Amino acid sequence: MSESLRHIAFIMDGNGRWAKKRLLPRSMGHRAGVKRIKEIILSCFEDYGIHTCSLYCFSTENWNRPEDEIRTLFRLLKQFFEEEIDFFKEKNVRIRVLGFLDDERIPADTRKTIEKAVTETAGCDKYVFNVLFNYGSRQEILAAAKSLARKAKDGIVDPDKITLDDFRSELFTGQEDGDVDLLVRTSGEERLSNCLLYQVAYAEFIFTDVHWPDFDRKELAKCIDIYKHRNRRFGAIKE
Ligand code: IPE
Ligand code: IPE
Ligand code: MG
Repeated sequence: MSESLRHIAFIMDGNGRWAKKRLLPRSMGHRAGVKRIKEIILSCFEDYGIHTCSLYCFSTENWNRPEDEIRTLFRLLKQFFEEEIDFFKEKNVRIRVLGFLDDERIPADTRKTIEKAVTETAGCDKYVFNVLFNYGSRQEILAAAKSLARKAKDGIVDPDKITLDDFRSELFTGQEDGDVDLLVRTSGEERLSNCLLYQVAYAEFIFTDVHWPDFDRKELAKCIDIYKHRNRRFGAIKE
């Protein structure tokens, strides 16, 4: 690969439209969507040697959806983690949650299952799977600013000496592998929807019309091939 690819992020979108096209309820789209997750992240890790895979699963704005859809989504995600935890351990994948897991609107059983997946894979060190759950990038940046403001107030940091690295450490992604190399959004929408705004500063973007439940290894391969031919310059001059 001409461009290195360490961190890939996916905005899984189009579950609802995938179902609608088939005259199915939206919940069936989410079910089909959640089923795709394992195949895609495994392919990222094993076929392409990608170290970190981030998946946007539930945004802070998704609370605006009907309650039963939210409940279904949470149930499907909970089931996914219950069923796949051993698989992640076996593959040496560390699961991290990016998002506000302490939100009281999240059902206790869903939170517990996700926390368990995080704790039980904490020692895994080959790959990282970032689950963006109750995640909003503006809120993440605001929380980082508040934390630094508090530290400044308490005399722990000098506001004039705050570096980009200090700021980065305050984000959910933390210091390591925060920067996204490639962001893929499915289903034809060409927007970020509050996803990793800070971390995609120099990411490559691919928007595909394929709905997430149809996004398979072959579709992933097409994206990787497009990425390979991108010329990332980071402000410098490169032939
Ligand atoms: C993505 O599919 C899943 C989540 C946002 C959780 P959507 O549910 O947004 O599907 P569309 O965009 O309505 O088709
Ligand atoms: C973004 O998708 C959030 C997730 C994929 C979790 P949405 O479907 O919620 O985004 P909008 O509303 O179309 O921007
Ligand atoms: Mg959508």
